[in-house]
Amino acid sequence: MSTRTRHARALFAGIAPEYEWMGGVLSFGQDPRWRRSLVSRVDAPRGSSVLDVATGTGLVARALAARGYRVTGLDASEPMLRSGKPPGPRVVALAEGLPFADGGFAALTFTYLLRYVDDPAATMKELARVVAPGGVIASLEFHVPDARWARAAWRPYTRYVMPLVGSVVSPAWTHTARFLGRSIEEYWRSHPLQEQLGWWEAAGIGTVHTRTMSKGAAIVTWGMKR
Ligand SMILES: C[S@@+](CC[C@H](N)C(=O)[O-])C[C@H]1O[C@@H](n2cnc3c(N)ncnc32)[C@H](O)[C@@H]1O
Repeated sequence: MSTRTRHARALFAGIAPEYEWMGGVLSFGQDPRWRRSLVSRVDAPRGSSVLDVATGTGLVARALAARGYRVTGLDASEPMLRSGKPPGPRVVALAEGLPFADGGFAALTFTYLLRYVDDPAATMKELARVVAPGGVIASLEFHVPDARWARAAWRPYTRYVMPLVGSVVSPAWTHTARFLGRSIEEYWRSHPLQEQLGWWEAAGIGTVHTRTMSKGAAIVTWGMKR
């Protein structure tokens, strides 16, 4: 297992119990909106099987199930899966090696995942592999605001305010909140959007769209498996 994966496992094991409500607090109540936008991109017929990768405590999986899909939730972290209520089968595995046959799912979602993998381009190929041709693949990720004024507020907020809020909850949250802003910034610096869209294209996903939300603090990306 890579150092990055070990780090992600340790990180999420420590914050699993408070994960669902803390996400809302730290994002000023925005992240439920971001997830709704993600879930709205899935347009498979009701009853279809959908794979939610990096499902965590199952927030996206539950929203998909409420729309009538049969959802399998997969995550690297057993404590995250145990803490929540994913609606269908829960699978502990890595996104880099999915234990599923080619083309077995009508659609796939993933949330806040690619910052935690060593090779995001290869992971995109692996995610696309298990989706049937014509199926939607949709993701949600944090983003660095583009506008100068928004970035000027975002940076001190992620660097100082989030860790302060985290420190009220637990040492694990202080650590995670400290890590998060830097991780997001580093990810977008190393992999600009055009490069990321290239990963989707190379994975055989076409008609790729993006929507940034909340002044650019989050981005939803979706496309269709060719
Ligand atoms: C920020 S949480 C997102 C949880 C949930 N989908 C949501 O909407 O909030 C990111 C999740 O990615 C999982 N994760 C990190 N690296 C992974 C990997 N390589 N394969 C599968 N899951 C991974 C973590 O365990 C964690 O539960």
